[in-house]
Amino acid sequence: MESARIRAAQLAPSNRAGAGLTGWGPHDMLRRMRILTGLQPSGKLHVGNYFGAMEPAVRLQDEGEGFYFIADYHAMTSMQEPAALRENVRELAVDFLACGLDPARSVFFRQSAVPEVNELAWILSTVCPVSLLEKCHSYKDKVAKGMAATHGLFAYPVLMAADILLYDSNKVPVGRDQKQHLEVTRDIAVKVNEAFGEGTVTLPEPIIREDTAVVVGLDGQKMSKSYHNTLPIFGAELPLKKLLMKIVTDSTPLESPKPIEGSTILALHKLFASPAEHAAMVADHARGGVGYGDFKKRLAEAYWDFFAPMRARRDEITADPGYVEQVLAAGAARAREEASKVLERVRRAVGLR
Ligand code: ADP
Ligand code: TRP
Repeated sequence: MESARIRAAQLAPSNRAGAGLTGWGPHDMLRRMRILTGLQPSGKLHVGNYFGAMEPAVRLQDEGEGFYFIADYHAMTSMQEPAALRENVRELAVDFLACGLDPARSVFFRQSAVPEVNELAWILSTVCPVSLLEKCHSYKDKVAKGMAATHGLFAYPVLMAADILLYDSNKVPVGRDQKQHLEVTRDIAVKVNEAFGEGTVTLPEPIIREDTAVVVGLDGQKMSKSYHNTLPIFGAELPLKKLLMKIVTDSTPLESPKPIEGSTILALHKLFASPAEHAAMVADHARGGVGYGDFKKRLAEAYWDFFAPMRARRDEITADPGYVEQVLAAGAARAREEASKVLERVRRAVGLR
């Protein structure tokens, strides 16, 4: 208890007058910083997801209490295949654990295992202006790409705000594309506190790692499932390495120096290789005399080695089918406990109790 208190004191900002604006609210005095993020089970985990959301989430487990979940309600806005949804949830759970989510330190659960989130989403929707949602790029982009303009897709950021506020989250690690959704969450939180009293909900802060805010895909655009340019993390060696051979390059002759700025190969290599290996790769680009085929091979090796420990861990986890279910069940119980407390406080504040 004593050490928890000391830790809370170390982590809390010294200027308590700033509480509420800094991601710290009055409910945080005796607990560690809470870090929360969600990932949608809408396809195979890719390198962009890993560096944008998963790696920061795993790393931050050392700094606070992680609340990590599989956003299955959110995935329903883009997929209506029950069997695929079930399968994706299972796969993503294994992936997250294989990538270092430690259930001894973090709470890991399925979003839908805590149905309280829907009640909070409703309450938030009563203060959330439609105009705030109409501005969201993600909604506009998805509809422009042909997705049905459903109420769920439109209200997606409100459910996301509920995910975050339901656990009094302080920090939310995400890729840059989620920045606007975090702004919506903060706007909604401010409105709730204005309407129902300061401290009704806790204002969260995004954590966006600048160097990996936008991971490039195989075609040099942002890596995304919607652009079909992803490099998955898990899968069979040969097809995955072959994907890297497909990276489009220019026609600089073998003997000439190769462009460094804007190089997809170098941008990806930097993520996987040690600084020394990467420096050597950059120097070989600058010098000339090495072909793109060689660079792609080096990239493929660095990529394969980088994820080797996670692949091994993944094999261990899949060998014990009951393990994942156990972890998710324990996580859901713990998450619900926390959610009930916050929801009760909000119900009282708004007059539902
Ligand atoms: P996708 O664009 O492939 O559909 P999601 O929208 O499901 O990916 O993203 C899940 C998480 O991964 C989010 O936090 C998002 O910001 C992050 N992310 C996705 N793609 C990238 C990328 N190319 N670079 C950095 N982060 C990313
Ligand atoms: N919208 C996020 C994505 O597509 C997933 C998500 C849902 C999320 N709820 C969240 C992320 C709460 C952070 C916090 O990646």
